[in-house]
Formats: sequence, C-alpha cells, structure tokens
Amino acid sequence: MNAQLHPVPANDELDAFWMPYTANRQFKANPRLLARAEGMHYWTPDGRQVLDGVAGLWCVNAGHGRREITEAVTKQLSTMDFAPSFQMGHPIAFELANRLAAISPPGLDRVFFTNSGSESVDTALKMAIAYHRARGAGQKTRLIGREKGYHGVGFGGMSVGGIVNNRKIFGSSMLPGVDHLPHTLNIEHNAYSRGLPAWGAHLANELERLIGLHDASTIAAVIVEPISGSAGVILPPVGYLKRLREICDKNDILLIFDEVITGFGRIGKPFASLAFDVTPDLMASAKGLTNGAMPMGAVFAHRKIYDAVMQAPEGSIELFHGYTYSAHPASCAAALATLDIYTKEGLLTRAAAMSSQWENAVHSLRGLPHVVDIRNCGLIGAVELEPRAGKPGARAFEIFLKCFERGVMVRQTGDTIAMSPPLIIDAKQIAHLVETLGSVIRETA
Ligand SMILES: Cc1ncc(COP(=O)(O)O)c(C=O)c1O
Repeated sequence: MNAQLHPVPANDELDAFWMPYTANRQFKANPRLLARAEGMHYWTPDGRQVLDGVAGLWCVNAGHGRREITEAVTKQLSTMDFAPSFQMGHPIAFELANRLAAISPPGLDRVFFTNSGSESVDTALKMAIAYHRARGAGQKTRLIGREKGYHGVGFGGMSVGGIVNNRKIFGSSMLPGVDHLPHTLNIEHNAYSRGLPAWGAHLANELERLIGLHDASTIAAVIVEPISGSAGVILPPVGYLKRLREICDKNDILLIFDEVITGFGRIGKPFASLAFDVTPDLMASAKGLTNGAMPMGAVFAHRKIYDAVMQAPEGSIELFHGYTYSAHPASCAAALATLDIYTKEGLLTRAAAMSSQWENAVHSLRGLPHVVDIRNCGLIGAVELEPRAGKPGARAFEIFLKCFERGVMVRQTGDTIAMSPPLIIDAKQIAHLVETLGSVIRETA
C-alpha cells in the first residue's frame, strides 16, 4: 500500500527543512521517509510496511489513523476553526478540562493547556514560582532538576534538564538558580532489573544536601520525570519518588512530575503518579493527550496552587502566561476523541495487562553481543549497548538504521535502543519487534 498525499521529495529538495534532533547531513544523504500510517504500522513512500515500535515519538498510544479523531477534528474545524482563550472561552475547552480533571491524580484538577511538552514544562515551572510569590514567599525561585533529565527545549526545560548535549552549547544562557539531583541509572547495582530497580532510593536524599546548600527558603520546586525516556529509559528505584515527596513536603517545596511520556497509559495507569502512588503538586503532559494527532499539552495543577494564584485583585489577570493556541478548538476535539478511545478500549490500563509478556520478550535479549543492560516498565523497554571505543552512540545508531531497513522502527538515544509501542500492540507484534531487534543486534559488530 503506498497511498500518500504528497510527491516524494527528490534528494536535492531536502535541504530547506532544518530537521529537529536529526543528523541532517546523514539523513539527507540517506532519507528515511514515512508516507502513511494505520494501526501499528507506517508505510514508506515505496510501500514498505514498518512496525511502529515507538508510538511515533512516544505519542500515538491508541495506534495510527484513528478515524474517530480525524472526524472530531474535521467537525470542529468546520464548526469553529479558532477561538482565543485570552479573556474569551469556548465550550470544548471546559469540557476537556473537566474530563482530564476526572482522571488526574488526587487534587490535580486544574488544567492549563499548552501546545507541547516543552511548553507544559515551562508553564509548570512558572506556576511553581507564581504560587510561592502569591503566598508571600517570593524568594522561593530556585528550581531543582536532575542529571540526565529531559524536559523539552524551552529555556526553562533546558535549564532543569540534565542531558549534556542539550545544554553544553547554550552555556550561560541557562536560567540562573538551578541545581540538579544525581541521576538514578546504575548498571553496576541494577543491571537487568525487571521493572523498578531495588537499589538507589537513598539517591533522593541528595535533595536534603541541596537544601542544606541553598536553603529551603530559596527553592520553589523539584522537577523529575517519573521515568526518564530521552536519556535512555531510566527507572526510579523502589521508594525513590516517595522519598522525594517526603522531603519536598517537609521543606515546602513543590514536586513537579514531567509525565510527557508516562502520561496516558504508558505504564498501565492513566499517569505514572497513580501507578507509583506518589502525587506531585504539578504535572506536565502532552503527547498521548491527543494520540499525537494534534499538537497539545496540558499542565495539571493542584487546586491549592490555583487557589493561591487566584488571590490577585478581582478583575485582574492572575497569571500573565499563556499561548495563542492554548486550548485550540481542533486540539481539544482531538483530545476528547482520544480520551473516548482510551476509555472504550481500556487503553489507559492495557499496558499493565501486557507488561509481563513485554518484560519477558525484552529480557530475552539478555546475553546478545554488546548488550549490557535491559530495562522495562509498563510498555516501555530499553536495551543498553556497550559503546564502540571513541564513538559513543554509533553502535546503537547502526542498529536503529538496520531495524528500519528490516521494517521495524525503534528509537536510538546514546547507546540505548528504546521501545514504547502503541498500547494496542499484540503478542505477535511484540515478538516480531523484539526478534527483529535481536537479530540485528546479533549481526552488528
Ligand atoms: C519527559 C519529556 N518532557 C518534555 C518533552 C518535550 O516535549 P515536546 O517535544 O512536545 O516539546 C519530552 C519530549 O520527548 C519528554 O520526553
């Protein structure tokens, strides 16, 4: 099947698009184009079928080409294409906020709309600072992120993030007043853990050290991904997130979870916060919110934060923040249709039912050449490879390319191959994904 809307660009027509997070010159010399998608698959322009092992980019949780979403967006666009959310409102935005509040972690029932994960993160950071100021603690502005964290590409998210390549060239343009917890990846102690690793809860105590250094009176919030995806799938040790929560509570510091990849069913509950039974004060989300069909993000704020900020003088704008496309009607329509699908098909909990099958499949790759660790949780899996001497990431990149040639799309990050398939994946597709990856690893020096 090679139906597509647009002609395939010739190789000399690829230069104008400066591609994001892409080895542009490598890509343009050997383009990998996708032209069509349905269910668990993509098709290339020449009609080759590719199994989607990463839900697009961790976002197409209900699988591709969902007719219900297309119809909802089309209907919304033909009814009202755009309406501003600054000093105006439109019904579907309120309906969506109510629907999201109904599945949110306890108390996080105030929802602010953005257009991406990066915007959700920066919004959550600003809300944390605004909250403290509204309560008369305007000196609490410092933000604590974590090494290897990824929180998108805004200046806020980049500053609290901890992946060196995302930071090093921007140097002193980072936000001031940011510090970082140590990351929790430890292959020596935790290699081949099934699910959450047992070792490492004590790493949360490093927050006490940072409080000792900066003083709690200067710290607004701690932000972490419950599970880091971009740095190569790093799982929280058992008890780690609870300990962070306790230390934040003791010191009047807000805890922000970045659930951009873990939200909307990825690990078997609507949010990781529910799966791990740790409730943050603010939660950033995006991706699965619209099944990737429209750009949209949402920040869930605890009611206490909303209420504190609402104490501004009557009639004045309480939070000077927002986006032209916050609560875009077409994105709201996509999100509502997505939530309907999730509910009807039980997708927000399906990863829990599939996780032991997934875990066994992913861990069957143990013992293959150069494999040094395998990590999994819900429908997330990662295979970490030994780097080639002097060429970090090269082995994993070659494996990613070969998998694509064999009709399987995985994601490479550093020397890790990450997988996060649509939550509709079946047993046969899991086997195909993992077997293809296994045979490529075996053949790659
Ligand atoms: C945890 C996390 N936060 C934020 C982002 C940024 O999201 P976006 O690319 O939609 O800005 C991502 C993207 O992968 C992410 O994984």
